Order: sequence, then C-alpha cells, then structure tokens
Amino acid sequence: MNALMNTLRDLLPAKDTLLRALIAGARPGPASDAPPVLKTRLPAVGEGLAMLIDPVNFQRACHEALGDVFALSIFGVPLVLAQGPEAIARFSAASDDELDLITAYQKLLGKLLGEELFQRIPPAMLRELSGQSVRKRSAALARDAASFLGDKLGSAPAELDAMRLCSELVLEMTCRFVCGDTLSRERIVEIASLFEVLESDYSVVGLFLPIETPALRRRVQARERLIAVFEDEIRRAVRDLDRLEDGYLRTVIDAMLGPEPASAAPAQLRAAAVAIMGVVFGAHTNTANSLALAWLDVLERPALARSLDEERRSVLADGTPLDLSALCAMPALLRAINESMRMKGGGVLWRYTHKSYRIGQYEVPAKSFVGISMSLLHQDQAVYPAPAQYRPERYAAMVTDDFQSPPLKDKTYGVWGVGKHVCPGRGLAYTIIASALTVLLDRYTVRVKSAPRRWHPLVTAGIARPIGAFRVAVSPRAPR
Ligand code: HEM
Repeated sequence: MNALMNTLRDLLPAKDTLLRALIAGARPGPASDAPPVLKTRLPAVGEGLAMLIDPVNFQRACHEALGDVFALSIFGVPLVLAQGPEAIARFSAASDDELDLITAYQKLLGKLLGEELFQRIPPAMLRELSGQSVRKRSAALARDAASFLGDKLGSAPAELDAMRLCSELVLEMTCRFVCGDTLSRERIVEIASLFEVLESDYSVVGLFLPIETPALRRRVQARERLIAVFEDEIRRAVRDLDRLEDGYLRTVIDAMLGPEPASAAPAQLRAAAVAIMGVVFGAHTNTANSLALAWLDVLERPALARSLDEERRSVLADGTPLDLSALCAMPALLRAINESMRMKGGGVLWRYTHKSYRIGQYEVPAKSFVGISMSLLHQDQAVYPAPAQYRPERYAAMVTDDFQSPPLKDKTYGVWGVGKHVCPGRGLAYTIIASALTVLLDRYTVRVKSAPRRWHPLVTAGIARPIGAFRVAVSPRAPR
C-alpha cells in the first residue's frame, strides 16, 4: 500500500491541478449555520485520495474555494478543517471539554497504536520531561550522542542509511533520558525497529481506512512486544529501586505502581509501561526526522555548514562543555533547525467535539473531529516572506526566544502546536536535535549519496516523513 501511494504521488507532477480539479464545490451544511461541506468529483473516495496525495495543498485549495471553515468526510469519518487567526485563537483557548485532544487521538490513531497509548499525563510526570530536568541532563545527552556515534560509526569510512542512524541515535538519547542508563544497546536497537513497524505510514493511509490490513496486524504485534520490553525495564528498575536515579521512570513508578512497586498488579505494570512507551513514542520519530532533515539541509549548503563550523568552534573553545547553555549560544544552528522544521513540519492538530462548538459564524456539530493545519500557518507570507525558500537567517530579524523560535504565545510557529497542549518535550527535542547535529557536524565528514525524493506531510501533528532513501558516506574527522 505504501509503495503504491508513493508511486502515485511521484507520478503526479501536476498535483495542484489535479487537487483543484477534484474539488467540485460545496454543498450547504445540514443546518443553516453548519460549515459548508466539501463536494468532490469522485464521490466517497475523492476526499481521501486528495488527502493522501498532498494534504497541505489539498487543504489550501479547499480553504481557497470554501472559506476558513469547511466540513468533509473521509471514508465516513466526519472532519471539520479551520484556518485563520480567529480559529487558532478559539482552538488554543478551548477547554478539554469543548475540544478534546485525548479523545481525538484515541479515536483517530487508537486502531493503529492502541487507545491506551493516549492518556493525560499527570503534571508531576510532565514536569520531569521539561525545564530543569532537561537542563540538568543536557551535557549527559550530548555525551550519549558522541558515544553512540563513536561506537556505531567506528574509525573507518562507511556508507549508511542516514534515516536509520538518526532514528537509532534519537531513540538512544530519548530512552536514556526517560529510562536512565538501564537499557542495553541491543534493546534500544530492537525498540527502534519495533517503532519503525508501529509508525510506518500510520499517519496517512491507515488512519482513515475502515479495513484491517496486514500492516495493521504487524503493528499490533510490534505494540505488544514494545509494551513487554518496557514492562521488563520497569521490573528491572523496581528490583534495584534504591539505586534508581530521579527522572521520568522513577516518577512513573512512584505515581503508578502504588506503595509496594514490587507487588504491583499486572494491570498497573502494563499502564506504567504504556506511560513510558507513550512518551518515547511522542519523543522519537518527530525528533529523529527533524534531526535528519536539518542535517540534510546543512549538508546540501556548504556555506551554511562553514558558518556553523565557525560558530561551534568559537562557542566550544577552551573546553566549554556541550550542554544546553552552549547550544543556546549557537543561534545560527538553532535557526537552521527551526527553518528545516518550519518547512517540513506542522501537519494538522486534531480535537474531538463532545458537544456542538462555535467557530466564527459556524456551529460545528458534536462528535466531529476539528483540525487546524500548522503546515498552512508556516506558509503565511506576512510572517514568513517567501515561505517556500529555506532562509534560516529570517529568524534573526524576528522576535524569538532562547531557541531562536518565534515565541509560543505568538502562535505563528506551529511545529510544537498551539495553546494549552503545546508540546511539553520542546526543550528536550531542541537539546537532542542540536547536540546530535553538533556532534555529527563536528566529528564526521559526510557526503550525501542519495536524498529523499520528497517529504510527505502528515495529516496529524508532526514532521513530514521521507519518501526515498537518505544515504550518506561518513568518515571520522581527525581530532582538532
Ligand atoms: C521535533 C520533535 C517534536 C515535535 C515536532 C513535536 C510536536 C508536538 C505537537 C505539535 C504536539 C501538540 C499536538 C496537538 O496539539 O494536537 C505535541 C504534543 C506532545 N508532545 Fe511533542 N513533539 C516533539 C518532541 C517531543 C518530545 C521529545 C517529547 C517527550 C519528551 C514529546 C512529548 C509530547 C507529549 C507528551 C505531548 C502531548 C501534550 C498534551 O497532551 O498536552 N514531544 N508534540
């Protein structure tokens, strides 16, 4: 199915024309203040097909034709898509009773990933993922990156799959952050390949298809194996609880296994394993893909690579350790990362309406999925002039925060979402991407052997997925 879709996308150079041709117009909503409903020239399948071919341009074309809010149905799933400052402001301010994130992802992705993966994370556990916890662990994360790459790449030149390298490297860093130092390298490689099965094309085809495919069955097996692996890790940590460091794993054990963790019931152990897996899942693929695409963007631009070399050398002169403070002193690096993520990141944020909900002049009915596209936000010419061009220096002329990113309160940079559910792992993601990229650029000479043909945008929140191989020839640089 993946190969078929990818071929279809490659064969369609005139996608925009096709997408526009598919849109036949709108029929009125069922009530006078209901959003207009998209009508396509291929009844029942046109919407799904267009979403699969190119979700961002399809949404843009629909908004141009139908306005800021419209409804559609994909394989029977009722969706409402909204854009514009008013919709974003309403979306950000809505309570969970009005627009519910957890139910939306349980219903949309539960079939693929298991509903139990999507749970509200208690504040104490959320705190362990951000702020001081990240700052404290940032130097160790950078050392993990250097040691993983040293072991993996050795001292001889090699040609390898850069996506897989980024995936395993980010998984190693994430697992070390979430679980401490207990996981073996073999376990991490196993987890990386299980996540690959779990996530393959999840956001595109299977999301709306009403049938059970063989890929879906493989995914269910991968999910159960992952839960078993994390249960094992928790059991191991519980056996040696006195020596377990503070961190996310410890907080999960304290919060979820009761006063006698060693005698926790199987259901408690499973829930704790799912809580760990959920965070590793949330942290892994988007961060790995961001690292890969930011790396590729730098490798393809020698002048940018040279300026990053200079910046890095001056910040890390005199043995300054690579940690969060050092990374925040590398604005050109952070701007490059932000620009890669802006161009290929965003996707759609989804919420579920339990009751009817008003956006502007429209009443969205209960039991709808409401989505706003962060990818379209990233193409707003007023905020990002020439949005299709890679221009990391644009952030130098904007008001930005410590990560050189437009502040979250402005709701103009949608990579991390908007409003109260903005990504709690943002600081950790910047730390992982920026420190891994620093080590890769500093220690290795790299030639791109093949780059993905395209990056396919998601229909859920996150970073686009590559189509085609990203391979590199890597040789270690002589120490400076
Ligand atoms: C480049 C990497 C990442 C990207 C692009 C990303 C993006 C996002 C986005 C857009 C959302 C909001 C979804 C919505 O509103 O519908 C989100 C939520 C979330 N992210 Fe991330 N994320 C990344 C890394 C991480 C990391 C490293 C972690 C874990 C430490 C993490 C954990 C979470 C969690 C737990 C939520 C749900 C928050 C809630 O329910 O309020 N993410 N992420």
